[in-house]
Amino acid sequence: MNYLNIALPKGRLGEKAYGMLKQAGYACPAIEQDSRKLIFENEALGVRYFWAKPSDVATYVERGAADIGVTGKDILLEYTPDVYELLDLNIGKCRMCVAAKADFRDDKTRTLTVATKFSNIAKEYYSALGRDIDIIPLHGSIEIAPVIQLSDVIVDIVETGTTLKENNLAVTDTVVNISARLIANKSSFKFKSEEIENICKKLSAEEEKQ
Ligand code: PRP
Repeated sequence: MNYLNIALPKGRLGEKAYGMLKQAGYACPAIEQDSRKLIFENEALGVRYFWAKPSDVATYVERGAADIGVTGKDILLEYTPDVYELLDLNIGKCRMCVAAKADFRDDKTRTLTVATKFSNIAKEYYSALGRDIDIIPLHGSIEIAPVIQLSDVIVDIVETGTTLKENNLAVTDTVVNISARLIANKSSFKFKSEEIENICKKLSAEEEKQ
């Protein structure tokens, strides 16, 4: 069977995205059962879902292992995968921000040290400002860096602001607003255009209800 393969980010955002797909008519009852399985099919509808690590969804889609997928705008900006961005789903809304200790005073004559998981986004942001920076690439728990003097600032995702607050940090600038996007593999978009456009249309109606 020639399934339409859909990559979803494992976790809260993926569950929300699946909820929208279900409402749009693409339910897959097996996915709703608690299990450690990662791949689910609905033969009648011809759809196959799989849970991928959020930062890997775009890779599956770019390489055609998934026809479509749901990923954050942060991933698209950071890794610029060669995919089509079809729809803003208006879920997973957050901001990419610069944050520092509340008492941090920026000395613009010095190179700024920036800890982040998003090196490319940070480089582009500071290059547009004409500011010299030294990137310190990290993979998580970025908020520790300014507290223990690993960096002056961080560039990271802020959703509720709780993580910053609990670590005595504050936002100094917003880099860009982020939300989840529906993306498609370029050749799938050509060869499975009808199915993909249908999903897009139905999801777009769901997105308006968000
Ligand atoms: C993200 C981000 C912040 C946190 C922000 O981390 O990197 O740490 O969420 O959310 P808040 O503003 O609602 O507190 P994530 O949970 O992805 O884990 P990570 O630190 O391992 O990247």
